[in-house]
Amino acid sequence: MQKLIVQGGNVLSGNIKISGAKNSAVALIPAAILCDEEVKIYNIPNITDRDALTEILEYLGAQIKIDKESMVINSKNIINREIPEKISKKLRASYYFMGALLGKYKKVEIYFPGGCNIGVRPINLHLKGFEALGAKIKIKGNKYEIVADKLIGNNIYLDIASVGATINIMFAAVKAKGQTIIENAAKEPEIVNVATFLNNMGAKITGAGTSKIIIEGVSWLSSCIHEVIPDRIEAGTYMIAAALIGEKVKIEGIIPEHLEALVSKLKEMGVEIKEGNDYFVITKTKKLKSVQIKTLGYPGFPTDLQQPISTLLTQCEGLSIIEETIYENRFKNIKYLNNMGANIKAKNSKAYITGPSKLVGKKVEVTDLRAGACLILAGLIAEGETVIENIEHVLRGYENIVYKLTKLGAKIRVE
Ligand code: EPU
Repeated sequence: MQKLIVQGGNVLSGNIKISGAKNSAVALIPAAILCDEEVKIYNIPNITDRDALTEILEYLGAQIKIDKESMVINSKNIINREIPEKISKKLRASYYFMGALLGKYKKVEIYFPGGCNIGVRPINLHLKGFEALGAKIKIKGNKYEIVADKLIGNNIYLDIASVGATINIMFAAVKAKGQTIIENAAKEPEIVNVATFLNNMGAKITGAGTSKIIIEGVSWLSSCIHEVIPDRIEAGTYMIAAALIGEKVKIEGIIPEHLEALVSKLKEMGVEIKEGNDYFVITKTKKLKSVQIKTLGYPGFPTDLQQPISTLLTQCEGLSIIEETIYENRFKNIKYLNNMGANIKAKNSKAYITGPSKLVGKKVEVTDLRAGACLILAGLIAEGETVIENIEHVLRGYENIVYKLTKLGAKIRVE
């Protein structure tokens, strides 16, 4: 078990370059299977979720070359065999092998995915989509066997605009016969990035980024080069760090439109933000106003920034309220923030945060990826030393977080 030790109170300043988006990369890597030739993807973040997906690809027999800038994947000689539970449960995104293998080989055997324990997280909508395209699904305990004689395009309405289901159905439909329409599709930028990757290979997908995605099936997908978009959640996390204890922190290499919901909330609190074409410069403000935040699908406020921003809300004057509408169990960070001196009450899907509170370094435990980010942010402003245990969760999704924060002036180390 690794832990992080953060010495609080050190002002952050300087530039920070944002990495490729985790939630794009974790779909792009399995998507490479759909290509009948080799693909090259730039800007894949060096995170342990990438390593787990690479392990699955290698297990299936794909050839992979990774260097500092890019990842080359050749899936030509893949053997489509059962993906063992030991590797599928390392992360949530292993479920993208369902759509990718089904789309390419009309068959997949895989176990239920893992990932952060932040709610029930069913995959019924993914399965409903596969069935609508003609697949038959057998569930044996924790294992899924999904088989289709042929995949035929269909109209699929998603009851919830699910990111995972939207992407997985695109994967299964891209080589299906005829047209598939996904209604009430999720609109996250990562979905656009994935659809662009498939289109670069020769797929015919339109409407990604809107709630109606149309996919005309094709029979062959060719070699292409692609780039992962910047990680808006990583960027948002560092923007919050800058608002907490920054002096002209420049967060660069971003797409500002992807962060509009966060920017609008930060401005409402009174945070000063200077915006450029691909950067923000943020400095801590003396007095922060309390706000209300409700998590929603894109372009609403992202659930993945809900836990990180709760640390900032502990520093706002008065009562702030967070309403989490995506996951039932994404408040596990609150117990630890309260141990550090915050005043937060959680009831059902809402957290009531009264501030400002002085935070004091304590021993805390990371329960999930974004809870980890929240506690690191708390450690940065706390008095004294914060010991953060179980940081493996954080390393799944934040590239070089210790190096990046150290470069900005934080006193943080891994033990
Ligand atoms: N849902 C269903 N049935 C389904 C699919 C989803 O009921 O078949 C529900 C979920 O339980 C949840 C809601 O729909 O309540 C939204 O889930 P969604 O499918 O959109 O989430 P996901 O695909 O499992 C991805 C990211 C999450 C991020 C969400 C929302 C990946 C690997 N994960 O999850 O990222 O929170 O979209 O934006 O891309 C994170 O990075 O910390 C993280 C959890």
